[in-house]
Order: sequence, then structure tokens, then C-alpha cells
Amino acid sequence: MDKNFLVQEILRLKQEKNAVILAHYYQNEDIQDIADFIGDSLELSKKAQTTTADIIVFAGVHFMAETAKILNPNKKVILPDWEAGCSLADGCGPEDFKAFKNQYPDHVVVTYINCSAEIKAMSDFVCTSSNAKKIIASIPSDQKIIFAPDQNLGNYLQKETKRELVLWKGSCVVHEAFSLDKLLEIYLKNPTAKIAAHPESESHILKIAHYIGSTSGIINFIKTDPTTVFIVATEAGILHELSKAVPEKTLIPAPSTEDNTCACSECAFMKVNTLQKLYWCLKNESPEIQIKEDLRIDALKPIEKMLALS
Ligand code: 13P
Ligand code: SF4
Repeated sequence: MDKNFLVQEILRLKQEKNAVILAHYYQNEDIQDIADFIGDSLELSKKAQTTTADIIVFAGVHFMAETAKILNPNKKVILPDWEAGCSLADGCGPEDFKAFKNQYPDHVVVTYINCSAEIKAMSDFVCTSSNAKKIIASIPSDQKIIFAPDQNLGNYLQKETKRELVLWKGSCVVHEAFSLDKLLEIYLKNPTAKIAAHPESESHILKIAHYIGSTSGIINFIKTDPTTVFIVATEAGILHELSKAVPEKTLIPAPSTEDNTCACSECAFMKVNTLQKLYWCLKNESPEIQIKEDLRIDALKPIEKMLALS
């Protein structure tokens, strides 16, 4: 289908149905360009909480759309492709997590937002990469903590907060693939560059980073820091926003172990969403997130605690 036709139809349907398009920074450029709001996972949750639209089109991955539905039981929440998963969420099944949690009955459970509603419902607090330190710091220092499902973010939080965390051993397939050797090679050729990394990256990458933060944190850092060359260790989708915001700066995507092209740091789950699928999902109002009310209520509590602390 012609791109102009898709754009016009999406805009028409959006108005006709009073829909809002929320997109994550890792989405395809076409989707970012048509979105009403682009953000990191915390900003998107906040936007989902306050929107007055009747339909939320969530251009991101499944756990993000599910979080929007948990916050908006009376709104229709749809996503372009049901297969938009996440290695962190998919690697932490409810039965296994329940058994894990039962081994530590006296621990508070803090879960990264990249998990299913079932895992959130078993949690005391949810957090995102932008507020995780604050959430951990809000828990009394004598209280033991389980952190799931991202062990890399968990390791980073242990160092930053000086708290011992019992970690679930999950990871992000995109962020754990960055190659330290290749990154250092680029850095040696660009010694004035600053390295900005997402905390889902492995500790050897975080150790050499000048800045560590969420997608929005990285974007703000690159926009405001006077340096002109940056090596960006997160999903390559954020380069779209950055190339518009700071066209004069040089942005080098961190290379992965497989190849040093930009495509290697792309999240295949995020990238299953296309403009065409977005059009069909808005037209058919499907696939739609459905969630049982008792599960929703249990999953909502730790999200609300996070939002109150953010
Ligand atoms: P942010 O919280 O930075 O948006 O991270 C979401 C994510 O999935 C990173 O891989
Ligand atoms: Fe999940 Fe990693 Fe993709 Fe983010 S980049 S959605 S954490 S697989």
C-alpha cells in the first residue's frame, strides 16, 4: 500500500475514532513520525494514564500495551502486531517466577516493567529504567529484595544503590549483544566521543559509559551535552529522534558481536510493527489487549506505587 495513502487513512481513522497513537523510541521511523506521543516506557505509561482518547494504539511491544490497558480498563487498547514480544518478558513465565519467589518469602519483589501482567501481579513495586534507583531507594535498607527479570539492570542497581538484590537471570537480546572490543575500536578512532548506554547493557559496557540512562535519558544527555560525537549503546531506533534534534552531532550506534552495522542493534520485536499493520489495527480495532479484572487489579497496585514515586 502506498505510504501517503496509509498516512492519510491513519490520520482520518484516528480523528473519526478519537484514538491516540503512543509510540516507543524503538519503533520504525514511519511510526514515530505519525505518533501523537513518543517516549520511554515511563513516559508512555504516564501518557496512557492521562489520555482522554477512547482508543489507545500502542506502537511498542506487548508488555507496554498491556500496561496501558491495566491503567485504562475502560479504553480499548490495540497494538499493530500481537507478536511484538520482548526477550525479558517472554523469559519470565508466571509458574517459574512463582516458584522463584517462593524461595524468598521474606523478600520485597521489585520488577522491571518489561514483564507480563501475571508477573506484575506478583510484585510489590514495578519500575522502569528511569526510576529504578529511586524505587529501590524507597525500600527500607533492612528489607531484602528480589529484582526481576533483567539481571544486567539488576547488577547495575546493586552497584548504584549498594543494595544486595536477588536476581532473576533474564536479559535483553539486543543490549546483551553489544561488543566491547568493537566499541573500544570505535572509541580509539573517536577519542573525543562520549559513550551513552542503556542500563540493560552488560556491566563491561556500562563500566566505560560516560552516561547511563533510559532511552529518554540518553536522548536528553546527547541533546544537552556539548560533545559532538556520541557512541550510542541502545536500540538504534532512538537515532531517528536524535538526528532530527541534533543534526549537527555525529551519532555512532554501538556495534553488536555479530556485525557492526546499525541493523544489529535493532529490536526484532519492536520492528515487527509497520505502518501498514498500524493502519489495519486502527481500522479493525484489533488485535486488542484483554485482561481479566482480578489480574488487572493485582497488576495495577505495583504500577500505581511506581507512578506515585516517579
Ligand atoms: P526504556 O524504559 O528506556 O524505554 O526502555 C525500554 C526498553 O525496552 C529498553 O530495551
Ligand atoms: Fe525487550 Fe530488549 Fe526489545 Fe527492549 S530492546 S523490547 S528489552 S527485547
